[in-house]
Amino acid sequence: MYILGVETTCDETAASIVRDGETILSNVIASQAELHKKFGGVFPELASRTHIENIIPVIDSAIRNASITEKEIDLIAVANTPGLIGSLQIGINTAKALALAWGKPLIGINHVEAHLYASMMSHLKNLLFPAIGVVLSGGHTMLLKIESIGCYHTIASTIDDSIGEAFDKVATILDFSYPGGPEIEQKAHLGDIHSYRFQVGTDEKAPLNFSYSGIKTKVLYTVKGQKANRFSTTLIDESQKVHIAASFQHTVFQDLIKKTLLAADQYQAKALYFGGGVTNNQTLKKMFTEKNTDYPMFWPSPGLSLDNAAMIAGLAYHKYLANPDHPDIFDIFPEPRMKMV
Ligand code: KG4
Ligand code: ZN
Repeated sequence: MYILGVETTCDETAASIVRDGETILSNVIASQAELHKKFGGVFPELASRTHIENIIPVIDSAIRNASITEKEIDLIAVANTPGLIGSLQIGINTAKALALAWGKPLIGINHVEAHLYASMMSHLKNLLFPAIGVVLSGGHTMLLKIESIGCYHTIASTIDDSIGEAFDKVATILDFSYPGGPEIEQKAHLGDIHSYRFQVGTDEKAPLNFSYSGIKTKVLYTVKGQKANRFSTTLIDESQKVHIAASFQHTVFQDLIKKTLLAADQYQAKALYFGGGVTNNQTLKKMFTEKNTDYPMFWPSPGLSLDNAAMIAGLAYHKYLANPDHPDIFDIFPEPRMKMV
């Protein structure tokens, strides 16, 4: 079964052809990161307009790179939740138009669920359930109990910023480039993790939940002084930035590892599946590995951590086969807020 996946939830325009949920025949991504850099974050209207320009050439390349024709496509899958409303509209409307014109079925896919599927798609023959799913993206931070593909229970989530957002905001405070995660990781290699004492927040009522707004403010005050805002003047010496990056990253990852392993014990998980842009961070993988736990850990293959359409097309295979009542093309709408579990 050949599935065309379309992804436009945020600032990446992506399309991919995946066979039977696992073989990626093409994976085309037009990133807008350069365009949004000067705003220090995604500028939604610019994102939508750029999706309009990119979407048809990206889909066209995905089909050509897969060496198939549109006639051979069995299903079109589009990420319809969660995301920026304008960005979602472009992907969904394009996918609907193509589905109508080519006479293909269409299904909507949850982008966050697809991030988790990214770490499963090359291990379909021996998936281990129940498992703990760890979502680490720019929009979400969650621990989920995964019973099977499509069956999840939320265990914990962030009560304020997401982990990727925390990296991006701390990067802005340190005058690093957008998106901030990669530069924090890179600078952290040069710094001492023990030079600053940072702490992540806690949720008394739900101890596995995450909270990053306190540590972000602590970094802000450390760099620019008490009661400063992000536009205030930097007070620290340039040489301190690598140490702040290292201490911040280490503190956030230690907390994440502790909570993930607690959840794994508590829910008798057989494995851990990771997803989302922050899984690109090699230090995170190294820190998890150094824990020497018995839990097998599965990370997205290279190219599947950040937003992409292969994870959308891959997950769609299972969703389509599991549900005989496929929605009408006109019943698929953008849902900016996530209703996952
Ligand atoms: O999953 P993703 O591509 O988009 C969303 O669905 O939100 O995640 C983007 C996030 C950004 O916040 C970015 O800073 C972060 O992933 N990120 C990283 C790294 N690479 C990307 N964070 C930490 N270390 C990295 N190497
Ligand atoms: Zn994403």
